Amino acid sequence: MNLLLIGSGGREHAMAWKLSHSELVDRIYVAPGNGGTASLAKCENIHIDPEEMAALRHFAQTHEIGLTIVGPEAPLVTGFVDFFNAAGLRVFGPTQAAAQLEGSKVFSKTFMLRHQIPTAWAKIFTDFNDAWSYADDLDHLPVIKADGLAAGKGVVLPQSRMELQDALREMLVAHRFGESGARVLVEERLHGPELSVLAFCDGKTVRVMPAAQDHKRLLDGDHGPNTGGMGAFAPSPLATPALMDEIERKILQPTLNAMAAEGAPYVGVLYAGILLTEDGPKTLEFNCRFGDPETQALLPLLDTDLLTIMLACAEGRLHEINPSWKDQSAVTVVMASGGYPDRYAKGKPIDGIAAAQDQGCLVFHAGTVQAGNAYYTNGGRVLAVTALGDSLAAAAAKAYCGVDKIHFEGAIHRRDIARQ
Ligand code: AMP
Ligand code: GLY
Repeated sequence: MNLLLIGSGGREHAMAWKLSHSELVDRIYVAPGNGGTASLAKCENIHIDPEEMAALRHFAQTHEIGLTIVGPEAPLVTGFVDFFNAAGLRVFGPTQAAAQLEGSKVFSKTFMLRHQIPTAWAKIFTDFNDAWSYADDLDHLPVIKADGLAAGKGVVLPQSRMELQDALREMLVAHRFGESGARVLVEERLHGPELSVLAFCDGKTVRVMPAAQDHKRLLDGDHGPNTGGMGAFAPSPLATPALMDEIERKILQPTLNAMAAEGAPYVGVLYAGILLTEDGPKTLEFNCRFGDPETQALLPLLDTDLLTIMLACAEGRLHEINPSWKDQSAVTVVMASGGYPDRYAKGKPIDGIAAAQDQGCLVFHAGTVQAGNAYYTNGGRVLAVTALGDSLAAAAAKAYCGVDKIHFEGAIHRRDIARQ
């Protein structure tokens, strides 16, 4: 079967890598892909951007694509799946209506409250004065969230009343996020460790993956600005079988049931950001896709054929499949360009990838391009280096052996991934 994979990050390289091992797969076209997918067996990058839905649909129709897989959230929220389904094409991912779980924080919050799915309480505002007078009266500093997609910048955890007011003003007065920030959530701030719990879904059945944790801050010790993610590991030692069972029973399965009951059955990967509070696990947010960099840690642990699982999801027969996972730990360390998450240079030659692979690491490309036999930096997050081990400590030690072999000008990475 030929596949079309949409996206260009480390997540998509990891998906392409895992799919390329499937005996069912002939070719994988990646739109637009990166240096890693350009050089992978069975893979070929095509120069069509994820927003160009008509061009992608035409490509799928003319290249015998048996399944299209969407990596990032933006096309899903725009209705990519509906557009392909309307042409009779099979896709792995949620429809526009189901992707609202990520696409609108107002939708997902009111959905969770309506269905008693444990979450932080929140109130919704469109007017600055109303929002500020409510938020200023609270006895703690809340979290401010823009309703729509905001490239990871729509969540503010203010440290002072001043920052709180600024965040509300930016969204509701200065319209920094446009329509995405026209409605805001003023949300209770929760405290505790955070898990990324991802599950395969076919509209009815959930198959939960091992719980992962990511490291969002740029610097060691969780300091510095928020990023797309500087590393991840799985399974989390916090995720006992009892806790995972509770998350499935109280959060994931009820979400699937309620989405189906509301006429928007959820198909694809559902990613719940879960905070472990003293009152039990609570959902901070849903994402409608695989996480990045969680995927680079999770997929190397998956023993089952990924395409088989995805087809079962798309065809509503996930109950037939019980994915099996290695009894090992995975650690992923992201190497980024100096300056990230702000301005950074591109086009720096990358050395040492093969040497890292010789250490037994998987080197997933995020922001790279291939030219001839060489790779050059082409983004903020450049590489994600993954290693497996019999413990998190062993996996981390191996991943860092790989990281230490790789060089490009200005490279930065955290030294404490999975080591806290
Ligand atoms: P997001 O950009 O939506 O992934 O959210 C960014 C991060 O903000 C989350 O991963 C949490 O660490 C944090 N966060 C979001 N909501 C809350 C909350 N209600 N209480 C505490 N932290 C939160
Ligand atoms: N790792 C966070 C995300 O994928 O949203």
